[in-house]
Amino acid sequence: MEGSADSASHGDPLEEDLEDYDLGGETGGEQDVRSDDPFFVSKQAAAVFKHKILKVYFPKFAGKAGSTEPDKRLVYVDTHAGRGSYDDGTPGSPLLIARNVAAMSQRQIECLFIEARKGNHRHLKTILEREMPSTARWEALYGTASGQLNEALAYAGDSPLFMFIDPYGLGPTFPEVIRILNRRRKGFGSKTEVLLNFISGAFARAGGYLRLSPLTPQQHKTLEHLDEVLNGPWWRQVYLSAATPSDAVEQIAVEFAKRVERSTGCRSTLIPVKNRAHHVPLYWLLHFTRHPDGVWWIREAASQASAEWRRYCNPPPPEDDGLFPLEDEFPEEEARREAVWVDQIESNARSLLTHNGVVNVPLDATALFGNTLGLAWSKHLRQALARLYADGRLEPKPMSDRLDKYVGTAVAARGVPSSG
Ligand SMILES: C[S@@+](CC[C@H](N)C(=O)[O-])C[C@H]1O[C@@H](n2cnc3c(N)ncnc32)[C@H](O)[C@@H]1O
Repeated sequence: MEGSADSASHGDPLEEDLEDYDLGGETGGEQDVRSDDPFFVSKQAAAVFKHKILKVYFPKFAGKAGSTEPDKRLVYVDTHAGRGSYDDGTPGSPLLIARNVAAMSQRQIECLFIEARKGNHRHLKTILEREMPSTARWEALYGTASGQLNEALAYAGDSPLFMFIDPYGLGPTFPEVIRILNRRRKGFGSKTEVLLNFISGAFARAGGYLRLSPLTPQQHKTLEHLDEVLNGPWWRQVYLSAATPSDAVEQIAVEFAKRVERSTGCRSTLIPVKNRAHHVPLYWLLHFTRHPDGVWWIREAASQASAEWRRYCNPPPPEDDGLFPLEDEFPEEEARREAVWVDQIESNARSLLTHNGVVNVPLDATALFGNTLGLAWSKHLRQALARLYADGRLEPKPMSDRLDKYVGTAVAARGVPSSG
């Protein structure tokens, strides 16, 4: 069902309400635009990150959550869907998910996309009509995420639901997030997850209004809206006492996630996303799930996304005339980084074994990864544990399959040095 006629010929009645558009700061200042939306002119490093997370994580969710549903149906909702793809053809989140729909025919993945800018919505529909399998069930609504929330929850019905909330600005209110995560469904388990993009610049800029006087009516409105988004004015003191706006946003994101956890029973994972290694986070991805596998896989996805992002920031040297071929140093640098991670995880595992006599991956994952959390992934964890096994310090042998459930115990040293 369309939220409003796409073919309306005058202006865009919604756009004046999209004041968060100005707060997002994701446009990168590009001027030479073909699209009517500067965000979609080029794919930014930070978008590489969130899209890789979706690419790795969503199939895991779909595989797991859909497996025990009698009709195999599950629902993906993209509340700020955008144009579907970038002007250079790079897929946006809707197109990435469309490819999952096509690839996972054993699941009935149904999608609802919401987009509040008319030009973007029109482009989105064209892309989806072209790229979605002809048998797929999907809808693209023109409207705001809040205005279409009832529709989205009704669309999900009793099926598992993964909702991607990816605004430019402040995003949904706290009660809306809670309503989504606490939706009731007939069936086993809640199977409701949210991946929320918490845009640092939007919160930092809006919070900065606290220091202005006098405020324009629009700034006043934004501060009040921020109270709604964060469920009360508690954040104002946090903002004012933080050393920098970026610190403030981090503290607010952490506290927001804790409050969502308390109101829903979900577990949260916070993933900082930067444009360059030395930058402060451009946004935080906040993931909420009730399932331990969700926590495991989102961390895994975040680490793989950070690898893809590093490669994006360090592309292979351009082809030259062959006289002075430039070497691509990235693979070697990456291998060095990975070797350090495995050493660190091994050392963390050794101290867990010494203190607890056991390495319990489901319980100890945070301690095991330690400083490598969000960088290393299961491959590195398995390599580190495999060394302890080879040294005769740990039983049983860690395998890649079901590593997330691995529980190993300390064994007395066999006194036989390992050969590798
Ligand atoms: C960051 S972009 C989305 C990118 C997309 N999710 C992707 O990954 O390719 C945010 C989109 O939300 C739209 N938008 C802004 N405010 C909105 C609202 N209140 N409800 C729905 N969409 C909105 C913007 O027009 C823009 O296309």
